[in-house]
Amino acid sequence: MRIAILKERAPGESRVAATPETVRKFAALGAIMAVEQGAGEGASIPDAAFAEAGAEVLAAERAVAGADIVLGVQAPDPAALAGAKPGAWVAATFDPFREGERVQAYAGAGLEALAMEFMPRITRAQSMDVLSSQSNLAGYKAVIASADEYGRAFPMMMTAAGTVQAAKVFVMGVGVAGLQAIATAKRLGAQVSATDVRSATKEQIQSLGAKPIFVENVAGIEGEGSGGYATEMSEEYRKAQAELVSAHIAKQDIVITTALIPGRAAPRLVSDAQIASMKPGSVIFDLAVSQGGNVEGSVADETVEKHGVKIVGYANTAGHLAADASALYSRNLYNFLSAFWDKEAGRPVLDEEIGNAVRLTQGGKVVNERLVA
Ligand code: NAI
Repeated sequence: MRIAILKERAPGESRVAATPETVRKFAALGAIMAVEQGAGEGASIPDAAFAEAGAEVLAAERAVAGADIVLGVQAPDPAALAGAKPGAWVAATFDPFREGERVQAYAGAGLEALAMEFMPRITRAQSMDVLSSQSNLAGYKAVIASADEYGRAFPMMMTAAGTVQAAKVFVMGVGVAGLQAIATAKRLGAQVSATDVRSATKEQIQSLGAKPIFVENVAGIEGEGSGGYATEMSEEYRKAQAELVSAHIAKQDIVITTALIPGRAAPRLVSDAQIASMKPGSVIFDLAVSQGGNVEGSVADETVEKHGVKIVGYANTAGHLAADASALYSRNLYNFLSAFWDKEAGRPVLDEEIGNAVRLTQGGKVVNERLVA
């Protein structure tokens, strides 16, 4: 069993899909680990650390030659995997709904693509859930980056020269990233409020000491679809939400948006008129910028200034914390493959529930029901 880890090729991708810790753990299961030279550079892991952990550190082609499994953060171009074993597994993120061509190319290449973002949200798969591990860090970083762009302080400070007011932070979308954004902004001393379409989040917001801002008395308010994800809301709800949020946004210093709906473009939550209602010097961080954006006019990896308000959004927010993001992501991959390790076969054998959920391609075909429905 040979497992290869390549250097990420996507522009701006600083993470890596293995660390010396996971290399050691896979080796303890009997796997031979091959890491491309320089793979850990962006995450501050030198080649020597991988070698010390027992990996062969090689040029790309040699690392991938004869691999049974390839681990990636973002799925590599299948053309780069020509030397892998026929039917080799590639466990990575594939962005399957938007990258249909790449999924087809994996099928065409006879590779078995395992999409880590399709990991089911079930208790036993929590430690394998890359969306959670990366969103958590992204929620933290969104607050830190916003604080950096903001020309004022977050906490209230009483000084001899007078009082500095606490920043007002509003978090829109309270999933994994939003919860961490609330917690981080609270720790920095801000006055925090938050909203979501899923009414179950109200208590979670309160338990973090923040104020929930919720639409009441409108039909279809539950907002929760399968797997605990959000659904698209009714026209009536959206109108009521826009009114409530408009009045609230005008009083905020920092707005952090995190709203996503799986398989669809991110919902638009902040309009140009709402941006114009904010005080000059306010900051909006759009965590959904690379999925279509929650904020009108946000541009990935640019700070756009509109009506005196800075709008920020990173294409790859977790990548701005590459060392921690890589450590957690790599553990997710190890937890996934080791949970299914078959000692006799000397390789992982997936069960039906998780295998069918994450497997995109097999035997030359696209096989995932979310893609072929
Ligand atoms: P996500 O990244 O898909 O979306 C972020 C948030 O945006 C969600 O809370 C969603 O309800 C909200 N949202 C969508 N449209 C909105 C709108 N128009 N206005 C305001 N908010 C909007 O969500 P994430 O972080 O992936 O979490 C989704 C669910 O999965 C949650 O219920 C979470 O608790 C659950 N979860 C369960 C896990 C497990 O059991 N293994 C692991 C991680 C999350």
